[in-house]
Amino acid sequence: MKRLIKTLTCTVAALVATTAVYAGEDAVLMINEEITIPTTAPAPEGSPLTELLSGWKFRSGETQALQMDDFDNPSFIFIDKARDQWVKVDGTEGKSCASCHEDVESFKGLRTELPRWNETKGKMYAMENYINDCRTERMGAEAWKWSKGNMTGMTSLISLQSRGLPVAVKTDGPASTAYELGKKLYYTRVGQLDMACSNCHEDNYGVMIRADHLSQGQINGFPTYRLKNAKINSVQARFKGCMKNIRAEPFKEGSEEFTALELYVASRGNGLAVESPAVRN
Ligand code: HEC
Ligand code: HEC
Repeated sequence: MKRLIKTLTCTVAALVATTAVYAGEDAVLMINEEITIPTTAPAPEGSPLTELLSGWKFRSGETQALQMDDFDNPSFIFIDKARDQWVKVDGTEGKSCASCHEDVESFKGLRTELPRWNETKGKMYAMENYINDCRTERMGAEAWKWSKGNMTGMTSLISLQSRGLPVAVKTDGPASTAYELGKKLYYTRVGQLDMACSNCHEDNYGVMIRADHLSQGQINGFPTYRLKNAKINSVQARFKGCMKNIRAEPFKEGSEEFTALELYVASRGNGLAVESPAVRN
């Protein structure tokens, strides 16, 4: 704790003189030696950022490389399991995902739009909400936990179908209330360290914090495999981790607050290409 505060203080002091320099600035994200995915994008109108930068750009060459080949990317072990799950009958209705959705490729583009307003339910929906509705209301199966392996494997498999497409969440109309809430949360200082998301990911991206290279905290690569915990991490699990690091009480996964924050953070990356499943440290 003391050490973290000290590091933060030093970091902030050092910042004044530091311009944003990130590792692998010129590196190109080419996957399987065939698909090139842009890792920068022009900032959307009204953005506080001058340019959008994928978190991939801030990682070391070694970590970057793991995302450049699907055979090296550990996410694909879990994605293969999700493919089995896709056709597995589960629940009282005797159905699998494939009984109704045929091919998972039909979900192409879905990742770019989520979270979004669900008119029928009258609330914001993340991908996890849709999947669990299908499980509980259509299959007669149990809901999956937000960040457990079967869920993160499935969200990765579905998100993979949108790889390379630009993030394009809607923030107006019925989504505007959630957008405003998410924005407020992003800029509100919380926790014992009294910091907001923006203090790190907007004011200080490009600098080192402990041994970690601060990024813009974009979510275009989620769900993301992390070397640190050797599993796939949901967006909201990542938010939880950042809140814990500043000694704040995190919101619950699936809560109105976190889904609003997910929408807001996604909108800060509107235009960045989907990289799911990304690899991070
Ligand atoms: C009994 C049929 C049925 C089964 C089984 C089923 N779904 Fe669905 N699913 C639907 C229908 C119908 C919708 C559309 C709901 C709507 O538009 O409001 C849907 C919507 C979705 C969506 C949101 C798509 C979108 O474009 O908004 C996702 C993601 C999804 N299902 C995933 C799954 C997964 C994963 C499974 C297996 C665990 C599954 N579904 C099982 C019928 C089913
Ligand atoms: C004390 C600084 C700090 C604060 C405050 C902070 N984070 Fe982070 N965050 C980090 C660090 C360090 C990492 C790992 C390196 C990186 O990707 O920036 C990280 C990573 C992330 C990532 C993963 C990015 C990627 O490309 O994989 C997301 C998303 C994120 N943070 C969101 C948030 C949100 C939302 C908040 C506010 C609730 C927040 N962070 C608050 C330090 C912070």
